[in-house]
Amino acid sequence: MCGIVGYIGNRNAIPILIDGLKRLEYRGYDSAGLAFFNDDKITLTKSKGQIKELERKISDTWRSKVGIAHTRWATHGEPSEVNAHPHTDCSDKIFVCHNGIIENYKALKEVLIRRGHKFKSETDTEVLAHLIEENLRYKPELAIAKSLKLIKGTYGIVVFFSDYPDRIIAARNSSPLVIGMGDNENFIVSDASAILGRTKNVVYMNDGEMAVLTKDNAKLFSYRGGSASSVNILKRAEKLDFNVQDIQKSGYPHFMLKEIFEQPESLTNSLRGRLIKKEGNVKLGGLENIKERLKSIDRLIITGCGTAYLAGSIGKLMIEELSGIPCEVGLASELRYLPNVDYRQNLAMVAISQSGETADTLAALRRFKEKNILTLGIVNVVGSTVARETDAGVYNHVGPEIGVASTKAFTSQVIILAILAIFLGRERGFLSAGKAKKIIVEIEKLPMLIKRVFGKKNKIKLIAKKYKNYNNFLYIGRKYNFPTALEGALKLKEVSYIHAEGCGAGEMKHGPIAMIDENFPIIAIAPEDSVYDKMASNMEEIKARRGKIIAITTEGNKKIKHIADDWLYIPKTL
Ligand code: BG6
Repeated sequence: MCGIVGYIGNRNAIPILIDGLKRLEYRGYDSAGLAFFNDDKITLTKSKGQIKELERKISDTWRSKVGIAHTRWATHGEPSEVNAHPHTDCSDKIFVCHNGIIENYKALKEVLIRRGHKFKSETDTEVLAHLIEENLRYKPELAIAKSLKLIKGTYGIVVFFSDYPDRIIAARNSSPLVIGMGDNENFIVSDASAILGRTKNVVYMNDGEMAVLTKDNAKLFSYRGGSASSVNILKRAEKLDFNVQDIQKSGYPHFMLKEIFEQPESLTNSLRGRLIKKEGNVKLGGLENIKERLKSIDRLIITGCGTAYLAGSIGKLMIEELSGIPCEVGLASELRYLPNVDYRQNLAMVAISQSGETADTLAALRRFKEKNILTLGIVNVVGSTVARETDAGVYNHVGPEIGVASTKAFTSQVIILAILAIFLGRERGFLSAGKAKKIIVEIEKLPMLIKRVFGKKNKIKLIAKKYKNYNNFLYIGRKYNFPTALEGALKLKEVSYIHAEGCGAGEMKHGPIAMIDENFPIIAIAPEDSVYDKMASNMEEIKARRGKIIAITTEGNKKIKHIADDWLYIPKTL
């Protein structure tokens, strides 16, 4: 995923830009570049590959007080130096970094070529530089606004003009941008981690806003149809709630492992101050204002993408079981196309997103808002777009999730959904205080139980080594562990590039079992719960087809030795 860093101030911009790009490396990228102003001209430097390649091209003697930089993750055109950002117009006077996708770039490019523009790259972004060039008879802000009117798609852009080195201009539509305000210096970044330790005063830009940063000022406008209306930036300033240590690997080989091992602490943080064991209840400050409205809802719809959607699938089961409210869960990438259904019921929707910036989740959320439906968010990043655009919500408070493939945010999303289920059940008189108390007691134990699972890390490693050369895996589970199976398969695909599928164990006989042989290991999520006997039958069916079974089951389950090839015990809980 792409990253943007811009700086204007009194210090040397170059190390600040490079350091910012390094902080965004975790998001993945294939090339990088920067443009800075010095000696009356802009220097543009790009390279394919890692940021250290870019650093090699930078002279220690270079100095600048303003510049923009970017890490690119190829979408249009291969990873290469020429396709790396910033991109320029024909006269190399306009420099653009862009996150997002310009959907109508081909049509715009054809028109621009007919008008004589010469393109250097295969990217969608370069269209923007040439469009702005077309409008250069206007002042820079207006030239950008007029160009953006022609764009279909998503963007977070920063633009820098060699004729106006006193400013950096940024605009946003569905791709995050954050302004960092310092003393006689300002920053513009796509992710606040890039400016940690430099300033804590930030403003999260909204869609349709343009920012003009000078060294001692930051102005924000809402632009619509080329005209602009100013926004009081100081009123929007927020304090960043995490620090540099939060985004360091602390001795772990990679962030994902660090975040897996952070779960006892991150769950404790998600739960802090929210469980009232004595009363068999929970306290969710972010829902206080809409408590009364929530009491009368007849139906809930949960949405999200990837792992957040799967957390929602577990949440659906808990909400129905503990609050009695019918609940659906839908992929945000599909729900965004919601037809004009006539909702007679009192409906609420819950959008789940670690980042709070996922484009499909936002699109689905906005589709429901259009229909005046009550919207809630379960979000980790404080001040993110989902957090700002929902009527109410609950923060995860798990700190930055740098690994991108969600781990600690997932378990936190599930636990927040569990306490939301208790909250709804108690508010509506569906769940007794006694039963809620029993669940709360078990929830409180979870951080400690997770630590116990970590005690098995060597066995987990051994199993991973034993099976690492298989090309296909199937994860199966039932009821609460059906979404867990889907999540397991998603993680294996995403981080190991191994083909994996998740399947409801009851569906095996309707097709998937045909694939099973000794080369197709199955991971069976089979704790001793209400569906254990059915899971055991499914495992027998697999064994009969010589499939290899890795079972995840409850400590003390001795029978598993007769069915599974390998097994991992997890502690018993409710
Ligand atoms: C994907 C990540 O790209 O985005 C998943 O790999 C994540 O792990 C998904 O669940 C949705 O992200 P978010 O920020 O909306 O929770």
